[in-house]
Amino acid sequence: MDRREFLSRITLGLSALIAALVGLPIIGYLLAPLVQPLPDQYIDVGAADSFHDTTLVKFRDPSPLPWAGQLADSALWVRRRADSGAQMFQVFSVHCTHLGCPVNWRPAAGIFLCPCHGGVFYADGRVAGGPPERPLFERDWRVEGGRLMVRAEPLPTIQTPKAT
Ligand code: FES
Repeated sequence: MDRREFLSRITLGLSALIAALVGLPIIGYLLAPLVQPLPDQYIDVGAADSFHDTTLVKFRDPSPLPWAGQLADSALWVRRRADSGAQMFQVFSVHCTHLGCPVNWRPAAGIFLCPCHGGVFYADGRVAGGPPERPLFERDWRVEGGRLMVRAEPLPTIQTPKAT
């Protein structure tokens, strides 16, 4: 083996090592939801009677990742509707569907407003204006024993859309 061939092999080996170091965590991140799906779990967010109009609820999302840390601290907007039947509530992720900033509720205007790029959503989650192209992410919920239970889900992304 001459010097040129030796250096060429070293370069290829180091390139493969760097590609593996960069690529394996990305592949692990992409496959994690398939390998470790969240259990079908509902989180108790409070007494159903305690929610009037639109309320921010902070909670710790059960995460399959032990190192999730502060990322597991999340929030939801719980909207009580006039309907007292099966559609009594709408529960939205606090994350804007554009790039994920937390949206704020403006009761006087009856809209959700995203502070990052001016995305605006109607009270029912539909897009009213700005860059977001889809409605707010909704969570499944149910009332059990007078408690509002919200389905645990991974952080919503554009790749995990949910019909509203
Ligand atoms: S992140 Fe909400 S409008 Fe861009």
